[in-house]
Amino acid sequence: MPLTTAIIPVAGLGTRVLPASKAIPKEMMPVVDKPVIQHVIEEAVAAGITEIVLVTRSGKSSIEDHFGCHYELEAELARKGKNAILESVRNIVPNNVTITAVRQHKALGLGHAILCGAAVIGDSDFAVLLPDMLVNNHAQSATDLSTMVKAYQESGLGQIMVEPVPMEHVDRYGVVDCSGIDVQPGRSANIAQMVEKPPIDEAPSNLTINGRYILPARIMELLKDTKPGAGGEIQLTDAMADFLKEGTLQAFHMQGKTYDCGNKAGYLQANVIYGLQNPETADSLKAFIKGLEL
Ligand code: G1P
Repeated sequence: MPLTTAIIPVAGLGTRVLPASKAIPKEMMPVVDKPVIQHVIEEAVAAGITEIVLVTRSGKSSIEDHFGCHYELEAELARKGKNAILESVRNIVPNNVTITAVRQHKALGLGHAILCGAAVIGDSDFAVLLPDMLVNNHAQSATDLSTMVKAYQESGLGQIMVEPVPMEHVDRYGVVDCSGIDVQPGRSANIAQMVEKPPIDEAPSNLTINGRYILPARIMELLKDTKPGAGGEIQLTDAMADFLKEGTLQAFHMQGKTYDCGNKAGYLQANVIYGLQNPETADSLKAFIKGLEL
């Protein structure tokens, strides 16, 4: 089963990182030398995705521009012989990857945003990547998303990436329960139930959904009938919970680490970690951090 298409919802207002995201989309804020969205699209492409569908809104066209051709800039860099920089702006995604955009006209929730991509998806299974979350797999031989794609191809079952968080934070996330099974990192297990942002004392576990999904096409049908849930929004988690009544989804326990760039502290942490992992910035950043008197 080839998995070719990923939906990336980018229509959010970015309220948790204001004022930085007032005039630029939060997805365009840089982590070291690339906007957050570029890190996420590179992760999708590395996992074999060739069709990216951005679910966007007015005021966010710079995201599409970033992946398009900037003729003047490229001509100028070529004229000056700045070939390395030219390469970094020219081939952001390989030629066989297409990026298209559809609009979400009303902010009705994540489930609604995903449904906006239904016409492009048709009756194929699809991936969803939430662009706030950066999944870091530095020094691992495969990314978590690639491993999850493999698990999907081997089992034929939808996969939801999860990670354990401290119990006091579970009310910020979708939470899954695998019948109490202790799913090991790098492995998948059948999900018994899932719930969006449960009160801490009602959460079925501390395994939370961290923004990477491989979903059966049927989810689109279910989303059409999904009523507003947590926070008054149409929730993807509720459509997945409905799917569990008729089919199986698996939780894939990630091996890497996530950084939530949708909030200020997570965004700063991402810049530190990715800066320490980038050959261009690692040494000077390490020296700077060592010299800090904290
Ligand atoms: C969304 C999902 C939630 C998931 C989270 C991960 O929530 O609805 O299930 O755990 O992303 O970041 P949001 O952060 O949009 O409120």
